[in-house]
Amino acid sequence: YLLGIDVGTSGTKTVLFDENGNSVAHALYEYPMYQPQMGWAEQRPEDWWNASVETIKQVITKSGVDAADIKGIGLTGQMHGMVLLDKDYNVLRPAIIWCDQRTQAECDEITDIIGRRRLIEITANPALTGFTASKVMWVKKHQPDIFEKIYKILLPKDYIRFKLTGEFATEVSDASGMQFLDVPHRRWSDEVLDKLGINKEWMPAVYESPEISGYVTQDVADITGLKVGTPVVGGGGDQAAGAVGNGIVKTGIVSSTIGTSGVVFAYTDDVRIDPKGRVHTFCHAVPNTWHIMGVTQGAGLSMQWMRNNFGGMEKELSVFLNNDPYDIMTQEAAQAVAGCRGLIYLPYLMGERTPHLDPYAKGVFFGLSAMHTRQDMFRAVMEGVAYSLRDCLEIIREMGAEVNEIRASGGGGRSSLWRQMQADNFHNPVSTINSSEGPAFGAALLAGVGAGIYDSVPQACEATIRITGVQQPLEGNLAIYDKYYDIYKQLYNDLKATFK
Ligand code: XUL
Repeated sequence: YLLGIDVGTSGTKTVLFDENGNSVAHALYEYPMYQPQMGWAEQRPEDWWNASVETIKQVITKSGVDAADIKGIGLTGQMHGMVLLDKDYNVLRPAIIWCDQRTQAECDEITDIIGRRRLIEITANPALTGFTASKVMWVKKHQPDIFEKIYKILLPKDYIRFKLTGEFATEVSDASGMQFLDVPHRRWSDEVLDKLGINKEWMPAVYESPEISGYVTQDVADITGLKVGTPVVGGGGDQAAGAVGNGIVKTGIVSSTIGTSGVVFAYTDDVRIDPKGRVHTFCHAVPNTWHIMGVTQGAGLSMQWMRNNFGGMEKELSVFLNNDPYDIMTQEAAQAVAGCRGLIYLPYLMGERTPHLDPYAKGVFFGLSAMHTRQDMFRAVMEGVAYSLRDCLEIIREMGAEVNEIRASGGGGRSSLWRQMQADNFHNPVSTINSSEGPAFGAALLAGVGAGIYDSVPQACEATIRITGVQQPLEGNLAIYDKYYDIYKQLYNDLKATFK
């Protein structure tokens, strides 16, 4: 058996798999995201650890599996979040997480200090508010007393690794999103660290994703039921690990994922950079390969926001019908027509990365008339997310990456209506695979490679992943979506100046 732990934004999910990739037991434990000011987003690393312990215990108990038969653990999770520890290993402040948008000034500073061209040459990306470096620079400027006490800087899943194994370590895919890594050479950049005044000793050791980074300690074995000495491999950022779990380990297969964020992800066997920086270039979890990905900030987040604020009826119905509130919302959305009779939603609830790189962008409903209904509003949200994923895919195509097959995944990928909107917007069939466990599955496969069960990451994927369904674009919808997609793009350009 193999265990995957996914430290997500809405909760931590732990899944136990057998060696054929079947999920044997899983558990989810949710926690809050704090937004102390508009555009800020923080979480408590202690919550992630509690959730990890709880879900590990539950999975072991539910499955009835002997912990000695768990051959390896793979970690994954939300990328970019900044966890600061002091010399006694205490968390110094809440983690500033990936979707926090407070750091545009620090991004400008980083760009000035290193130079835009040099920064992109080394880190493969321009300075972005999402990435960890600008968050650390924010603390340096605004909380110097905390900055002075830094002993280690960790990413979310790597904090869990430290708690599990006592090791300070990360791996190349997640480390790429810190903006301290030399992405072409897959090691920390002395130049970037020096110029930003970050001590290299604060950085954890960097592994390739399937390599063993440490072993479960006795203390952790006592509280979780895991076996002492179980190996923990590098794992991957949620996007890279999710891509492994989707089989995005060779040229031509692309994934489109709707989690809290939305991501279009393509494998590359060389370092490819968009000179405009609209998509990210990071190391992949397959050793010595890279990937490019476009990220939309508010994908599943938009539906969650809709559910929380306007889905009262759905929440009650879901209890009554014992159904998922999102399924009910999607059924309602299906009653509206493609294009929502001109109602268009811009999903920029937390600013936007691809393609605008604009932390100030805001969400918009455009084109409302008295004939529109809540069904139209639900559908417009889903279509708006599909348009933003289309923006990502168009850039990936423009960069010359081969796109033969697109695989849908993430919570949003479970909806056939949402997959159809993607197929219609991508002008490409969209397929689904047998595993729906996403990043946790990919992390477990990486653990399987580290534990010697599989020979390589691609071989692990071949042994476990099958296509289960394909949705073709609907001829009748193509022209409708093409027309509204053009308006969608124009709306951002027209509104841009008003967002600040
Ligand atoms: C990727 C990104 C998000 C987070 C949260 O760059 O910011 O996908 O990893 O899921």
